[in-house]
Amino acid sequence: MSTRPLRIAPSILSADFARLGDEVRAIVEAGADYIHVDVMDGHFVPNISFGAPIMKSVRGVTDKVFDVHLMIAPVDAYLSDFAAGGADIITVHAEAGPHLHRTLQAIRGLGKKVGVALNPATPVSAIQHVIDDVDLVLIMSVNPGFGGQSFIPESVNKIRQAKALIGGRTIDLEVDGGITADNARAVVDAGANVLVAGSSIYGGNDPETYAGRIAAIRAA
Ligand code: DX5
Ligand code: ZN
Repeated sequence: MSTRPLRIAPSILSADFARLGDEVRAIVEAGADYIHVDVMDGHFVPNISFGAPIMKSVRGVTDKVFDVHLMIAPVDAYLSDFAAGGADIITVHAEAGPHLHRTLQAIRGLGKKVGVALNPATPVSAIQHVIDDVDLVLIMSVNPGFGGQSFIPESVNKIRQAKALIGGRTIDLEVDGGITADNARAVVDAGANVLVAGSSIYGGNDPETYAGRIAAIRAA
């Protein structure tokens, strides 16, 4: 099995939106590897966050990887907006439409890295037949829609299963939801290499604390 480099991906969902550019800059200075961008449509998930224009407005702040998590259904019509807005990785949910394979091909066709996400109740087998079409698998460790929820312990098992499905392929395994310095070790041991963290990094929106919080997750 291949071991991929560890990446910490703070979610700007928990940033102070009134100072979004500064919040992105601060998180980069604090040691973030990826910028995780949570897009919610109020339909696939019971919350609305922001869309491609907001993402695009902070794209110029950093050249870090923009890891865009689309919680949108149907999603296909919006892929090109996020590609044009500066996404590097575009992740869609396996549950978001009837033609996942077509959606993944569309992301590939836009020249972006291809990600697929699984909700807590969706089995890893749902992506078995598209695993060679993706660069990243995202295991949701909370039900998507909100920051600040508690990590679902069963996710550790699921990460292990996803890691087994990935095998020797060069695919990132990302975990998203409720990640803290207390559970980071368990998810990395299970096979995750990209750790999304929103509230445990941005909570309080005090830039002075960001570097320490990122370092604590990395060190765990
Ligand atoms: C949830 C989002 C997550 C969320 C993580 O729907 O996909 O990325 O912002 O936030 P925390 O780390 O607070 O659970
Ligand atoms: Zn996310």
